[in-house]
Amino acid sequence: MKLTAEQLAKFEEEGYIFLPECFSPEEVEVLRTEAEGIYHSDRKEVWREKSGAPRTAFAAHTYNEAFRILGAHPRLIEPVEQFFGEQLYMHQYKINAKAAFDGEVWQWHQDYGTWARDDGMPDPRAMNISVFIDEVMPINGPLMLIPRSHKHGTLAAGHDKQTTSYPLWTLEHDTVSRLVDEGGIVAPTGKPGSVLMFHGNLVHGSAGNITPYPRKIVYLTLNSVSNYIRKPTRPEWIAHQDFAPIQTVPDDALLDYARSHRLAAE
Ligand code: SIN
Ligand code: MN
Repeated sequence: MKLTAEQLAKFEEEGYIFLPECFSPEEVEVLRTEAEGIYHSDRKEVWREKSGAPRTAFAAHTYNEAFRILGAHPRLIEPVEQFFGEQLYMHQYKINAKAAFDGEVWQWHQDYGTWARDDGMPDPRAMNISVFIDEVMPINGPLMLIPRSHKHGTLAAGHDKQTTSYPLWTLEHDTVSRLVDEGGIVAPTGKPGSVLMFHGNLVHGSAGNITPYPRKIVYLTLNSVSNYIRKPTRPEWIAHQDFAPIQTVPDDALLDYARSHRLAAE
C-alpha cells in the first residue's frame, strides 16, 4: 500500500495520518482472538496494570503466527518504507490492551525520546504504525495526539517510573499546554482494522478506560535499517536487536491464515 502525495504532505504537516478500515473484520477477528490468548498466558512479555489486567504484550511477532504476519504486512510496511526511502526492521512490537474498566493512563510523551535515551537510536528515523483491534471510541481511552508537535524536536522529559507499571519519559504540563495552544488535540476513532501512523516525535498519550469496552491497539515500531540502535539498555524483547530488513508477506496472508485457522477449529 502506497501513500498519495496528499497523504504524505498531511503527514509532514500534522505528524500523523489516519487510514480507516485498512484491514477487514475477518482479518481483525483472528488477531483479537490471538491477543486475548496472549493476555491470558503468563509470558514475561505480558506486562500488567497494578490491578492485574493486561497492559501490553511485547514482541508477539516472535511467538505468534498471526502477529508475525501482521508485522510483515505490506499495508503497514510499505507506507513507512516509502516515507523513509529505505528498508525497515522491527524496533518494538506491542499489543496494548487498555482493558475494560482497568486500562490505565499513558502519560504525555514522545516515543523518540525513549528510543534515543534508553536504546541509543541515533535519529528519529523510526515511527509507529498501529492497527485498531477493537473499536476505538471517544470514551474508551483513545490515543490522543498533539498535531504538529513533531516539529519541536526531542523535548526535555522526566523518567516516570511510578505512575503506571510502564516506565516512560514524560513531558511537563507547561510543555504540553504550550504545544496544545498551537496544535490542539485530536483523538482518531474508528472501527477495528483502522490504521494510524505517527511521527516518532509526535506528542501523544491516553486516558484510562473505565468503560466495559476494551481498546486493543497493536503498535509496530519500524526503524530504518541504517538507524539501528547503538546502546541498548532494555531487554531484547522490548527493544529488538535483530536488524535484518523485514521481508513483506503477500497482501492476503493474514486472510489466508484467518481462514485456515477457522477451518482447523471447525
Ligand atoms: C504508547 O504511547 O506507546 C501507547 C499509548 C496507548 O496505547 O494508549
Ligand atoms: Mn508512545
